[in-house]
Amino acid sequence: MEALRIYTEKPYHLQGEVTISGAKNAVLPAIAASLLTAEKVQLTNVPMVKDVQTMLTLMKKLGAEYDLNDKTLNIQVKVVRSPEAPYKLVRAMRASILVLGPLLARKGKAIVALPGGCAIGSRPVDLHISGLQKLGAEISIEHGYIIAEARRLKGAEIEFEKKTVTGTENLVMAACLARGETVLKNCALEPEVSDLCQLLVKMGAVIDGIGEETIRIKGVKELGPAEHQIIPDRIEAGTFLVASALTAGNLILRGVEPAHLEAIINKLLISGAKIEKLDRNSLRIIGGEEIKPQDIVTAPYPGFPTDMQAQFMVLMTQANGTSIITETIFDRRFAHANELIRLGANIEIQGDKAIIKGKTPLSGAEVMATDLRASACLVLAGLVASGQTTINDIEHLDRGYEKIEEKLRALGVKIERLENNNNNNLGVKK
Ligand code: EPZ
Repeated sequence: MEALRIYTEKPYHLQGEVTISGAKNAVLPAIAASLLTAEKVQLTNVPMVKDVQTMLTLMKKLGAEYDLNDKTLNIQVKVVRSPEAPYKLVRAMRASILVLGPLLARKGKAIVALPGGCAIGSRPVDLHISGLQKLGAEISIEHGYIIAEARRLKGAEIEFEKKTVTGTENLVMAACLARGETVLKNCALEPEVSDLCQLLVKMGAVIDGIGEETIRIKGVKELGPAEHQIIPDRIEAGTFLVASALTAGNLILRGVEPAHLEAIINKLLISGAKIEKLDRNSLRIIGGEEIKPQDIVTAPYPGFPTDMQAQFMVLMTQANGTSIITETIFDRRFAHANELIRLGANIEIQGDKAIIKGKTPLSGAEVMATDLRASACLVLAGLVASGQTTINDIEHLDRGYEKIEEKLRALGVKIERLENNNNNNLGVKK
């Protein structure tokens, strides 16, 4: 297992510029969408993160040919060789469920392992399944696999009981090749859903209501080639914004989409940071000397993103006063609180609420990452914890952050990637 070690002899004030990578949660559905055509799809601004590799391993198994270099992916599925997404890949990345809709639409058959739960809670896919059944798919669950078949999907009106990002994405992709019109209601409004729709329209899909709660898709016989630039990762951007707010830094972020960051920016302004837009895709954030407490409730977009909850929890440990974070999306997304407590934070969990009493000095220690965003939170904690903080199991981090230690080192942080050797001493990775 690899680890990251952060040395904090004196408080950091992050200075300089960081370029934000493409969005992991936009590129994964975009890759899945290439199943919908036999033509070539080219994606640019692709983040070089582990989840992209996992998705491409799955796509290759399904019959895709691709080449990926320097953030440009050319991918083509001339023929679907297999309709099966095996458990070991789905377990490694639950976003593999995103091949379900496209496989059904393209091939008329899909065998996808049930994703199961993960560190942040039970992750059902019942809304994906019921939506596809309304499009005419015959779906059974056998031995932990979703077995789906449909000669040709038929358009229908579907209302999601609750907002689901990948559920909306799966149904939009399936509806593109269904016969007739599909109306999807109570769709997720995340920018990653809209980015997928933009790609599908470039491929020849007929979609109205992009970015709205009701999306109408007129099915077409087939889709064609496209080139598409992936939107910036708003969660990576949010993570670096918090890093600057946390360390009274002076940080410029390049390659961002400020319109996707409003909920995050609003909360950072309340905490005392100063943020200015430098140009269309750049922001400067200056962290305040004092961090003010505040209450946060996570919500579907455009509300405060659950994927930023852990990062904000660290910021609130350094605020002068009490903050309450309410997690409304996932049922077990506070695992990082226990690790922060080990660093010296004062956090009490009461059901879906975390009560954080600040300001508490943090001192470095060995900590364990439990999921992708919890890992990011521990890296942020390492920036303000005195002494040395070692974050183990950073495989989680590598799933969604591109070269985070290089980006932080360029901002003045003393950070090293360590690989465990057999007697468990961490040797610095050459
Ligand atoms: C997407 O997951 C993101 N992943 C998650 O990011 C993100 O946290 C989440 O949306 C919420 O914003 C990708 O886009 C690949 P949901 P997704 O379906 O689609 C319930 C990260 O760190 N639900 O919007 O799986 C579900 O249990 C990851 O990058 C059902 O009940 O989330 C949850 O409570 C973590 N039945 C809520 O809806 C279903 O069929 C929202 O889940 C589907 C979902």
